[in-house]
Amino acid sequence: MKFFAPIAFLVVSSAIMATMSATVKEWRQGDNGQSFWAVNCTFQIVQMDPNIGSFVSTIFATSENCGRVCLGIPECAHFVYTKGNRCGVLKKTRYDLKAISHPNLKGNICGYIPSRTPRPRQ
Ligand SMILES: *[C@@H]1O[C@H](CO)[C@@H](O)[C@H](O)[C@H]1NC(C)=O
Repeated sequence: MKFFAPIAFLVVSSAIMATMSATVKEWRQGDNGQSFWAVNCTFQIVQMDPNIGSFVSTIFATSENCGRVCLGIPECAHFVYTKGNRCGVLKKTRYDLKAISHPNLKGNICGYIPSRTPRPRQ
């Protein structure tokens, strides 16, 4: 596995924020019920934690196994898959996240580990 420097994929572009973004309401089960995921989505920080930068890393993985990668990292509570086989893992911290979907996020998958974090707020 290859690790990247922390990236700011949580920073949603203002164009996506302004038009048609919707909160994710339906989650599908993955990894035999150990993860939940949705398409065309990403996580948005509702309440900023100044420590978040050091809690995010990106690992090469396919869309199918990004949830499994997160499960394999005990501190990982949320994950975001983006094109190019980039699987961003968000380690659990004191921030509050909302999952939003938008057609421009096609190809993205976002998900969370229900045993480690509550369902993202709606
Ligand atoms: C994802 O976005 C694409 C368009 O970019 C759309 O065709 C598709 O229906 C969307 N899927 C869901 C489940 O929203």
